[in-house]
Amino acid sequence: MKQKTILITWGIGYIWSHAVVAFEEAGYKTVIVDNLDNSCLSTYRNIWEILGYKPDFYEIDLRDKEKLQEVFKKYSFDWVLHFAWLKAVWESCEKPLHYFDNNIVGSLRLFELMQEYSVKNIIFSSSATVYDWVIYERTDFLGALESDQTGNTSNPYGTTKFLLENILTDLSKFASFNVINLRYFNPVWAHPSWLIWENPEWLPNNLSPFIMKVAAWELPYLNVFWDDYETIDGSWVRDYIDVVDLIDWHLKAYELLENLDFSWFIDSFNLWTGKWISVFEMIEASKKATWKDIPFKIAPRRNWDIASVYCNPNKAKNILDWSAKTPLEDSLKNAWKFYNK
Ligand code: WQD
Repeated sequence: MKQKTILITWGIGYIWSHAVVAFEEAGYKTVIVDNLDNSCLSTYRNIWEILGYKPDFYEIDLRDKEKLQEVFKKYSFDWVLHFAWLKAVWESCEKPLHYFDNNIVGSLRLFELMQEYSVKNIIFSSSATVYDWVIYERTDFLGALESDQTGNTSNPYGTTKFLLENILTDLSKFASFNVINLRYFNPVWAHPSWLIWENPEWLPNNLSPFIMKVAAWELPYLNVFWDDYETIDGSWVRDYIDVVDLIDWHLKAYELLENLDFSWFIDSFNLWTGKWISVFEMIEASKKATWKDIPFKIAPRRNWDIASVYCNPNKAKNILDWSAKTPLEDSLKNAWKFYNK
C-alpha cells in the first residue's frame, strides 16, 4: 500500500515536533513547513536524532503562496495537519493584527492551495479558547461540551481559532473539505526522549515551564495570578494534558477519518484528560515530582484569564474509546528529567 504523505505546518514547534515524530514512527511520510519565527532549528536536529533520519523540511512562511505552491507541486499530499499559529495569548492582546495576519492569512493561503491541488483532508488544531466561557457560570457546568456555544472570545488568539473553525465549516459545506477540529486544553510536558519540549530559552508565560524553571532555580519564584476566585482553592483551574497523549489523539483522529465513508465531513473534539486541577494543586504535585521547593507570590490577575477552563470528556471516549493515559505524576517527573538533565 502506498505510504500516506502528510503536510505538517509549523512542524518544528513544541506540539508539532511531537506530531512529526509520532506520525513518522507510525509509518507515515511527513513534510514539514515552518518559518522558524517561533521555533528553533535545534528542534529539527532533535527530531532527526530521535528518528535517526531527517524528515523533509521547508523553511517557508505560509503567507508566501508562491513558495508554498512549490511544495504542493513536489508532493502528492493525502492529508494536512494544520498547526500553524502564533499562540501566546498575552502577545495576541498586544499585537492583534500580527496574529490575524499570521494565523488567518497564512491559513487562507494554505486552504487555497489545498483546494487547487485537491487535498481535502485536514486535521486542524483548534483551542479551548474558542468557547464562550460564560458557560461555566451555569450551575450544572461539568466542563465544556463540543456542542456548547463558541465565540465571545477573551483574546485575539482565541478569535483566530474561532474564525478558522468557522471558515473550515464553510469549506466543508461548500468546498468538500473533510475536517476534524481538535480543541486543545492545556498541552504540557515533554517527549520521553527529553529531546523535544516547549522552547525553554525565553521567559515562559505558561504555567508548566515556569514551574519547572523555578524548581531548577533558573527563576526565583512563580507568580500565581490571583487567589480569590470561586474555585476549589481560589486559584485558576485547568485541564492539563500530556503532549504525548495529545499527539496520540491525532493518530486516532486520523484513523477515524481514514476509515469513514464520507464525501465531506466536519467534527470537533475536546482534547482532555477529564481531570482538572488548580494552580495550587499543580504547585504541590510539582514539589512532589521534583523534590524541590516552588516559591510563589500572589500577583494581579491577567486580564484575559478565565477562572475555570475544562471540558466534558465523553465524546472522545464514546466515539474513539480514547482517554489520556499518562498520570500527572509521570508527566511531571518526565518534564523534570528534561530540566534537570
Ligand atoms: C494556566 C494557569 C494562569 C503562569 C493556555 C495556552 C493557550 C490555549 C489555552 C491552546 C492559569 C496560571 C500561569 C504563571 C500562573 N491553548 N499561571 N502563573 O492561560 O490556560 O492558556 O491554554 O490553544 O494557548 O496558553 O495557560 O499555562 O498560561 O495558565 O498562575 O506564571 O496557570 O493564571 O490559570 P492558559 P497558562
